[in-house]
Amino acid sequence: MSKIKLAVIFGGMSTEHDVSMVSATSVIENLNKERYEIFPIYINQQGNWYEYTKKIEEIKTIKVGETISEIQTIENPISYLKQMDCIFPVLHGLYGEDGTLQGLFELIKVPYVGCKVLASSISMDKAYTKIIFEKAGLKQAPYEYIREKNGTYRYIQKDFSEEMCSLEEISKKIEKKLKYPMFVKPSNSGSSVGINKVKTRTELEEAIKYASQYDHQILIEQGIEGKEVECAVLGNEEVITSCIGEVLSAEEFYSFDSKYNNQESKTAIPANLPKETVEEIQKQAKKAFKAVNASGLSRVDFFVEKNTNQIIINEINTMPGFTKISMYPKLLEASGISYSQLLDRLIALAME
Ligand SMILES: Nc1ncnc2c1ncn2[C@@H]1O[C@H](COP(=O)(O)OP(=O)(O)O)[C@@H](O)[C@H]1O
Ligand SMILES: [Mg+2]
Repeated sequence: MSKIKLAVIFGGMSTEHDVSMVSATSVIENLNKERYEIFPIYINQQGNWYEYTKKIEEIKTIKVGETISEIQTIENPISYLKQMDCIFPVLHGLYGEDGTLQGLFELIKVPYVGCKVLASSISMDKAYTKIIFEKAGLKQAPYEYIREKNGTYRYIQKDFSEEMCSLEEISKKIEKKLKYPMFVKPSNSGSSVGINKVKTRTELEEAIKYASQYDHQILIEQGIEGKEVECAVLGNEEVITSCIGEVLSAEEFYSFDSKYNNQESKTAIPANLPKETVEEIQKQAKKAFKAVNASGLSRVDFFVEKNTNQIIINEINTMPGFTKISMYPKLLEASGISYSQLLDRLIALAME
């Protein structure tokens, strides 16, 4: 049987460019070279496409921040991709995980790993994910959202009507609805970039200004105190869920540094939770996956609230961190699916 021609795309124009490089090199290192003819494609931060020409057998997982040098321009990315049997976009964040690239794959009719256009774009936008989860009856942290343009702000009502406000007016409105501490997030963020935890009015206003450097749509959420837990979902129509993992952040919240640079951050797999809580999280993870119309894979993140033990959904990631030691693969490994088997399954699901 001839090998499956598989493009593995990584890098990209988002704030998670470096994280994607780590995920993708790990994917390439662990793909079955007998089964796949691998075409690694690097997109730089300016959006230029390159072949990564290093010998496939020599590609090993890199570290966050490490760069690659053996690259050669791809003159026509569309015709290059058209020769493929399948594409694995190992990209996180904007222009990779948000439906834009998926739209290109749809246009050229090449199967690809992971969520389609709609699921990708809903899930990349925290405000719209909230709206869908609300419809699905999933419990979430109370939230408000606003839009910023050239330093002016609009407060968005639940019926989508808008009201122009000063930053001070916005903050007052938010304080009426939510209690401190709050989390201020660019709606399209990932890897915690642009996110701040705030405890005062001044911090709230600063955090809004900061978040608006990353996205014009900004989400403000009431802080939840409790465990942070995650569940992997795998499949298309029929889906399976993994055991539950817990994130033990070394810092006050799971910030970028805490995720990638602080060795004290740990994960616990499986999380220490009662059986009923585990089953309820799995049920809700499946529901969230279906609610956004996901396919292939997603990692669904929750809080288990201190004192009440309520399960509160935080977000869904359609292309979660994907190194061998990332939560998504580790959760499935603990559930009996090895990293290499997982890659095979995802590619098979894409080509279904
Ligand atoms: N409402 C909240 N209550 C408590 N902690 C939160 C809340 N929202 C976010 N966090 C913390 O911030 C981190 C990043 O937020 P998240 O919404 O998951 O964004 P990202 O997509 O960047 O991972 C979470 O992992 C968690 O530690
Ligand atoms: Mg997160």
